[in-house]
Amino acid sequence: MRIITASSTWNLTVVPNAFAMGGLAADIVADTVRVKPNAVVSVPTGTTPLTLFDELAARSRRGEIDLSRIELFCLDDYVGVTADDPNSLTGWLKSAFIERAGIDPDHVHAVPAAATDLASATLAYERDLAALGGLDLAIVGLGPNGHVAYNEPGSLADSRTRVVSLTAESRAQAAAYWRHSVPIPRSAVTIGVGTLLDAKQIVLVVTGESKAEMLRRTLEERTSADVPASWLRLAKNRLMVITDEAAASRLSGRRVSHS
Ligand code: PGA
Repeated sequence: MRIITASSTWNLTVVPNAFAMGGLAADIVADTVRVKPNAVVSVPTGTTPLTLFDELAARSRRGEIDLSRIELFCLDDYVGVTADDPNSLTGWLKSAFIERAGIDPDHVHAVPAAATDLASATLAYERDLAALGGLDLAIVGLGPNGHVAYNEPGSLADSRTRVVSLTAESRAQAAAYWRHSVPIPRSAVTIGVGTLLDAKQIVLVVTGESKAEMLRRTLEERTSADVPASWLRLAKNRLMVITDEAAASRLSGRRVSHS
């Protein structure tokens, strides 16, 4: 493992592969719940976190970690899609992670994507999160178009939980998971960038060569709404980026402090 300080503020750790990423991210979850067993946590959906989910499920099975008291806030879901719909991101998270990791279903806070009054429901989601003291640990992934959760390009640093229009690229990405013949919704409810930036710790997990250019833009170009994930750098030393060698391959100016 190479710990690379790309700036005096946020931290970047490059690990050999996705399995090492999952192990390191699981260590961070373990440290968080050791200090605060009822920590408020979020995890991403998608391919990237699968090694993390496997690792946490295995540790939970072996009795090495207790996630039964955490409060899990889901990051996003498709408008009009209920959590019991097989296409829902929350439903996916339930089978991919929540059930396997021993998380209490009563402690799972889905984004209110199927609410009739989305404006007040999203405000209520923010209120519920604030009432629990905000996120202790926000684990997030990097979208191919630079999105974080479903904060698509154009999202501002102070955005809160809200309805967003999905880009064609994100809808194409979602197609890999979409099991019905009905079209993929054009909009989603996502936690805001500002909501994520309030977290006490943010971990951005990125793997694979296909993310290399977007990770370079996220970390090395000016922070901008063109690449919403770049706003995470505003969290300074509350941000840790964990990437495999492939995703890190286009980063320049790497200063290796440990290997
Ligand atoms: P992926 O998705 O892990 O499937 O690449 C990441 C994201 O869109 O946030």
